[in-house]
Amino acid sequence: SDIEKGTYPHYMLKEMDEQPTVIRKIIQAYEVEDGQLAIDEDILEALQAADRLYIIAAGTSYHAGLIGKQYFEKMAGIPVEVHISSEFGYNMPLLSEKPLFIFITQSGETADSRQVLVKIKELGYPTLTITNVPGSTLSREADHTLLLHAGPEIAVASTKAYVAQLAVLALAAYVTAQASGKDLTFDLKQELAIAANGIQTIIDSKDVLEDIAEDYLKIARNAFFIGRNIDFYVSLEGALKLKEISYIQAEGFAGGELKHGTIALIEEGTPVFALVTQEAVSLNIRGNVKEVAARGAYPCIISMAGVDEDGDRLVIPQVNELLTPLVSVVPLQLISYYAALHRRCDVDKPRNLAKSVTVE
Ligand code: AGP
Repeated sequence: SDIEKGTYPHYMLKEMDEQPTVIRKIIQAYEVEDGQLAIDEDILEALQAADRLYIIAAGTSYHAGLIGKQYFEKMAGIPVEVHISSEFGYNMPLLSEKPLFIFITQSGETADSRQVLVKIKELGYPTLTITNVPGSTLSREADHTLLLHAGPEIAVASTKAYVAQLAVLALAAYVTAQASGKDLTFDLKQELAIAANGIQTIIDSKDVLEDIAEDYLKIARNAFFIGRNIDFYVSLEGALKLKEISYIQAEGFAGGELKHGTIALIEEGTPVFALVTQEAVSLNIRGNVKEVAARGAYPCIISMAGVDEDGDRLVIPQVNELLTPLVSVVPLQLISYYAALHRRCDVDKPRNLAKSVTVE
């Protein structure tokens, strides 16, 4: 069944492998008769009626929200704020006139996010939960729900749910943009299918990621993940994955921000993973890699075909520039997984962590 490991040594490995299938399932779940993608009419109306979206989430789901903001702003032209749930409830920003609150939560049970939902409902604003678990608390208590269709996620480190969150956020933004008559230059269904194939290619070459993990992280004390633009948000997620399961101190950074302090931490051999998928900033991020390399860092450039250069350690398949996170996160997940294995950590049940955090 869906919740058995079968021949897999770990749920995390199984769940990473499922990611192409999850994207295809999402396409199927949101496809209507004419082959178009669609979401419930009342959700579409709520999105179109909003003058601003407030995305509320924690951890990996928060990282997905940062990318969701890009999708809604760039495709649909709706301004978005993204907030960490444990902060928002106690330090609420000024709200717009017609806000829509979007809670992103794999489990639908995260207490920090729920306390915000309760407060927002008291204020009378409309709410939408994006979750993997039908009937979960946040799904039941919000006005609307969009499901991730990722199947049960058992490993504490979230992988397939993150990719599913990105796909559903892209889909909701795309459908809203279409309904509002925005000029979209690509077919999302097709682009998601290309992304699913791109993920499959990476999954089929796991040995490369295992080598990178051994080479860069077997004895590392710390590691940095850098990127610019949308790659920056993926670098935050890469760092979280590595921290959670390998206990290596890791930080995700905007490439240009390093020189404002963090570069002081670079020593001989410090691993720096750099994502290069965005043409507009590829020279800038490559410049940042040179800066850290000049101070002794051991850089690992993960670029995308089309913006790659000789010497890049890994080149991932080319996908639509907004959908790169769905693919670029996968090598980072796998590197974390193998780093944890090399360091003999309990991959599926890391110390001090629970799958869903049901206390504030
Ligand atoms: C992800 O790897 C983490 N275990 C964690 O950050 C998680 O994403 C966070 O607790 C939010 O959970 P949720 O999506 O179920 O609300």
